[in-house]
Amino acid sequence: MSYLMANYSPLEVSFVEGNGCMLTAKNGEQYLDALSGVGVVGLGHSHPKISAAIAYQAQKLIHTSNWYQIEHQQTLAQELCQAANMDKAFFANSGAEANEAAIKISRLYAHANNIKNPIIITTKQSFHGRTMATISATGNAKVQDGFAPLLSEFIHLDFNDVAAIAAHSGNKNIVAVMLEPILGESGVIVPAEDYLNQVQKICQANNWLLILDEVQTGIGRTGKLFAHQYNNITPDVLTLAKGLGNGVPIGACLAKGDAAQLFQLGSHGSTFGGNPLVCKTALTVLDVIKKDNILENVLAMSAYFAQELQALKRSGKVVEIRIKGLMIAIEINQDCSKLLNAALQKRLLINITGRSIRLLPPLIINKKQAGSVIKIIAELLEDL
Ligand SMILES: Cc1ncc(COP(=O)(O)O)c(C=O)c1O
Repeated sequence: MSYLMANYSPLEVSFVEGNGCMLTAKNGEQYLDALSGVGVVGLGHSHPKISAAIAYQAQKLIHTSNWYQIEHQQTLAQELCQAANMDKAFFANSGAEANEAAIKISRLYAHANNIKNPIIITTKQSFHGRTMATISATGNAKVQDGFAPLLSEFIHLDFNDVAAIAAHSGNKNIVAVMLEPILGESGVIVPAEDYLNQVQKICQANNWLLILDEVQTGIGRTGKLFAHQYNNITPDVLTLAKGLGNGVPIGACLAKGDAAQLFQLGSHGSTFGGNPLVCKTALTVLDVIKKDNILENVLAMSAYFAQELQALKRSGKVVEIRIKGLMIAIEINQDCSKLLNAALQKRLLINITGRSIRLLPPLIINKKQAGSVIKIIAELLEDL
């Protein structure tokens, strides 16, 4: 009997050690991790500099409270804001909480502009987290199932449909558009190149905030530090988590301009958010990304995957390959849910979403490891 609630159904494997892209199971077997704990461990498992930073800070000071000044938090806020061209940061513990902060900012923005019933536009197939506000924002009925009443103030429009958003121009109750630059949980859906630019234009014309959820796409995953940097835009609000802590729980909500001024004394908070341990770790993550040229590796490995995965099309079972940086989806022409366990048998960790195999390998993956991932997937498709 398990004392855990039944909301997860873990696979029959438990890992006790990790090193780079490799995980060691309890029985000593080695697994190749092409999922990074769902886009979290970008710098790989037990990265020596990250482990050293955690150990150093754990021995020095783990937690005080946001009632006192936290040195590393100030520095991290500054580094993130400078990197993203934002003004101010709030630290939370997860992606959902970072988005919750963004939603609360949009409410304050509404009330500051005398809008009594503020509505946020989000998209179908989106995923923004598991709190009540973020499941309401999420465009996926499965995530919302059983939790009614939801917050009703969200309109879900088709992703990558600029006209659908433009059609709401002039609606005085709308305060923000909240988007993932690339849909992650729905299987790496990459929009038109200028989608974010077009959406930002509509937002600016209507005084709506543009909130970008880069919980999955941020921190180097797409080959830029933030995915929206491909569009040369700056959103009003930007949320981060996952790769920011390389495994220690940290989320961040960054804001610019008016949106950065709305949280005032007492308007929001978090006991753990932005403690010395997580901030020191996140600072080290940013430092390693810069000093070890991680983004270059992402781009090089992305090009390698993009080229080598083409060969899978010969199986006749691949409908489409979607890739941006190291967010990869291989859509199959049939149900492929059984590939999850089949991959595990071959000691490869992947994700299946809908009819797609989704890969989010560590950003430090090398050519040999990428080659092994592709080879195993080719074998899996052969047997399907
Ligand atoms: C785009 C996006 N937003 C938000 C979240 C939620 O993050 P967390 O699970 O840390 O709350 C996720 C998690 O998968 C995500 O991919």
